[in-house]
Amino acid sequence: MTFDRSVKIAPSILAGDFADFGNECRRLAAAGADWVHVDVMDGHFVPALSFGAQTASAIRPHVQGVMDVHLMISPVDPWLPGFIEAGADVITLHGEAGPHVHRSLQMIRAGGAKAGYAINPGSGLDQLPWLLDTVDLVLVMSVNPGFGGQAFIPDVLPKIAAVREMIGSRPIHIEVDGGVTADNAGAVRAAGADVLVAGSAVFRGGPAAYADNIAAIRAAAG
Ligand code: DX5
Ligand code: ZN
Repeated sequence: MTFDRSVKIAPSILAGDFADFGNECRRLAAAGADWVHVDVMDGHFVPALSFGAQTASAIRPHVQGVMDVHLMISPVDPWLPGFIEAGADVITLHGEAGPHVHRSLQMIRAGGAKAGYAINPGSGLDQLPWLLDTVDLVLVMSVNPGFGGQAFIPDVLPKIAAVREMIGSRPIHIEVDGGVTADNAGAVRAAGADVLVAGSAVFRGGPAAYADNIAAIRAAAG
């Protein structure tokens, strides 16, 4: 996985057909997706339940590019080895998901994956300066985690810009997740994001619309 700041579109498989993830991944690649975003929810840290490491492992051979696993689970540490074994390229956890976030991020890197740190809409950047040498990606949540299909919270735009400023020239991706559409992708990109997660905005209209939907978000991001 090489680093650059070009725009990457990462469709969230959570909005896809749960009985057909393999084909969904192939359709997304054919439609121009760069990464596949895999949302893991535990019904405890967030209200909904999605799936676990076994499903991520089953998806892996069908993902051509980067498999980007977003863990919305707490405690997170016991589950990290399973997602590393599943072949995740990036594993992102929330600051609130365990008492020792620095150690959790180190565990991800020690397992050979890139380490991501997610920030909820109501959370600040107080931990981030102390994690800059330990993270490969910062995920700025633009909805409260737990469901797809929620509206983008515009208050996070200055937070994205603040993260971008803090990162400086370090090779750390900035990912934005939640309610991203062609209507706000330009502002998200201008604030400093390079990875744009989109569920509903990619999957709406069904497989025949994926390519147009991805192209519209990419064009808006500029
Ligand atoms: C929210 C998830 C998101 C979400 C994206 O908890 O982390 O990845 O499913 O879906 P949309 O784009 O529909 O908000
Ligand atoms: Zn997500």
